[in-house]
Amino acid sequence: MTKKPAVLVTRKLPDAVEARLRRDYDARLNPDDTLYSSEQLIDRARGAQAVLPCHTEHFTADVIRRLPDEVKIIANFSVGFDHVDIAAAKKKGIVVTNTPGVLSDATAELTMMLMIGAARRAGEGERLVREGKWKDWSPAFMVGTQFTGKRLGIVGMGRVGQVVAKRARGFDMKIHYHDARRLPPGQELDSVFHDTVEDLLPHCDFLTIHCNVTPETRGLMNARRFALLPEGAVFVNAARGAIVDDDALVAALRSGRLRAAGIDAYNHEPDVDKRLIGLANTFLMPHIGSATAETRDAMGFRALDNLDAYFAGKTPRDRVA
Ligand code: DGY
Repeated sequence: MTKKPAVLVTRKLPDAVEARLRRDYDARLNPDDTLYSSEQLIDRARGAQAVLPCHTEHFTADVIRRLPDEVKIIANFSVGFDHVDIAAAKKKGIVVTNTPGVLSDATAELTMMLMIGAARRAGEGERLVREGKWKDWSPAFMVGTQFTGKRLGIVGMGRVGQVVAKRARGFDMKIHYHDARRLPPGQELDSVFHDTVEDLLPHCDFLTIHCNVTPETRGLMNARRFALLPEGAVFVNAARGAIVDDDALVAALRSGRLRAAGIDAYNHEPDVDKRLIGLANTFLMPHIGSATAETRDAMGFRALDNLDAYFAGKTPRDRVA
């Protein structure tokens, strides 16, 4: 009987995914869901041909350099792969994969929740009720801004951006977008393409970010760009914190340039900038865009499909390095 490849799994995965891992691999699971330090990661990877990590493990150039030579593939349980130094992986000949597509619906749902929650002051309202501070109703009480029929700007019209646009059309929103690539006419429908982010921003009553972190998008939402939004816009980020300059976001929220922000992805997670927590007009979630049972199963199976392909001598479908 041929020996099963050894796979280091860094976090607790859904039961069905772990069952398949145990069946097909020499699976090194993490039942206690301990967050491994870089040293532990490198140490536990000894003897493993594959690592199946989440975005919580940082594969810097140094970590990749020190990974045991027997590690041949990093099959991420995530669509984002900004936690992996791709150049370093390529240099060492390590294949890297992600899980695109399977989390678009869940992330788009969360995006809708963030936009509506921020516009309708859901965080404030919930705190008021829970803390027993709700005393009265009046026409002026907890008034937010309407979501229906507004202009929605989308930066990054990939898989998630397109699902968000589809859902937002159900709210009679007018879609404006920017992406490095314009959609073909059949997919663009009635949305308006803008060549640059700068051109897009003045048209956004709501702005949502759905691009990857790249050298071009890191710190994209800075003071200059927030100033291009209409006064009182709502800003949402369910992509990655690194796309936003927190100082600029806080200043825009304080000045009223932004009416509110809904956020699910932060710089330095899980340490959320205290200034964002201190503001009433932020609606804050703990990076749960893909957190549905259906999606987490699908992410795990997709990562396993990539591993299966690799160990069958094929190119994994979601290879990014
Ligand atoms: C992703 O898949 O990139 C999500 O942010 C969870 O890691």
